[in-house]
Amino acid sequence: MRVLLLGSGGREHALAWKMAKSSQLDALFIAPGNAGTKNVGTNVSMGITDFPAIKKFVLENKINMVVVGPEDPLVAGIYDFFVQDADLKNVPVIGPSQEAAQLEGSKDFAKKFMVRHQIPTAKYATFTKDTLEKGYAFLESMKPPYVLKADGLAAGKGVLILNTLKEAKTELKAMLADAKFGDASSSVVIEQFLKGIEMSAFVISDGDSFKVLPEAKDYKRIGDGDKGLNTGGMGAVSPVPFADEGFKDKILNQIIVPTVKGLKAEGLVYKGFIFFGIINVKGDPFVIEYNCRLGDPETEVIIPRLKSDLLDLFEGVATNTLSERDVQFEDRSAATIMMVSGGYPEEYQKGKVIYGLNGITDSLVFHAGTSSDGPAVLSAGGRVIAVTSFGRNTENAVRRSYETIEKIEFEGAYFRRDIGKDLI
Ligand code: AMP
Ligand code: GLY
Repeated sequence: MRVLLLGSGGREHALAWKMAKSSQLDALFIAPGNAGTKNVGTNVSMGITDFPAIKKFVLENKINMVVVGPEDPLVAGIYDFFVQDADLKNVPVIGPSQEAAQLEGSKDFAKKFMVRHQIPTAKYATFTKDTLEKGYAFLESMKPPYVLKADGLAAGKGVLILNTLKEAKTELKAMLADAKFGDASSSVVIEQFLKGIEMSAFVISDGDSFKVLPEAKDYKRIGDGDKGLNTGGMGAVSPVPFADEGFKDKILNQIIVPTVKGLKAEGLVYKGFIFFGIINVKGDPFVIEYNCRLGDPETEVIIPRLKSDLLDLFEGVATNTLSERDVQFEDRSAATIMMVSGGYPEEYQKGKVIYGLNGITDSLVFHAGTSSDGPAVLSAGGRVIAVTSFGRNTENAVRRSYETIEKIEFEGAYFRRDIGKDLI
């Protein structure tokens, strides 16, 4: 198989690394990739939402599968672009159709979908500029803290949690009337605040059947103790100790099964990963959000735990034969720690030389934001390097990743020192 993978982060390096192990792989291209993906395939300089350029590349290079890492191309309709193009329709895209990708692309769409299928989620209502006054009244009917969500994609910044009614009203107005998040906040979902501990659940689906992947917990805030600004994710562990069999059964029966069945029943074509952001409220799972892709850095712990051939699973998705495929996982725990640029998630510097990447044998090193300059690897983003290790439990896996991370350096590098600590 000749595969094109879209994306450039740690998630994509982990996916590329895993696909490169498949006996079915003949060639792997990553667009645009990073200095790590270059070691397992060929990087291609191409915009991930530039569909005409992608088409040209796919045809010229006889690509027979496209795997999509991030949400943007999916929400922009890459799946439909392929299906509707006479030259591309036989090239499967691993990911949902544009309509189904609204599970991530529109919070209001996702909430309505969950209500239709009785999937547990926080109570909510949606407002626009024209119903701002009703939005204020809805806020008045609720108790703090107040959760406001921009309907559309807002680069992970569209969710605000506010402690006072006054702040909540001010922000609601800023989002609806003053386009705080541009078009993304022309509708705003206001929802009940749920108190509990969060985790991420994942499946891969061919539209009919699905395989459950390992769950993970990511650490979103920049500071130890989960303090400070939100980031893309500073580390992750898998499995999640509090997700015992009973809790996972509830996720399966109350959330995963109705989601996959609901998509099919509504004719929403979905051939890819579904990411369920789950919150455990006193032992019951609720959906905080859907994403139409894998998580980052969750991928860096769940993909290494997959013992089966990832391309074989993708082939099952493409040919609607996923139910016939075997999927096996490592029992061992995995932990990943993200090294980020000093200053991230606010302003930070790029282009710092990264030392110590060679000769690491105890851990897997996934590049998140890197570029190459001859033999040198430079930082090229906020999140730079993810160090993943296995261990017989969370504690061991985390400890090994911390031992490895001490060997890697670049100017201004920062990482959290408490990944997994809350679970040990
Ligand atoms: P999202 O961008 O949808 O991942 O939301 C960002 C974060 O906001 C989530 O990871 C949760 O920590 C928090 N959050 C979102 N919705 C709720 C809710 N209804 N109750 C409590 N926390 C929430
Ligand atoms: N780590 C959370 C996400 O990928 O959305």
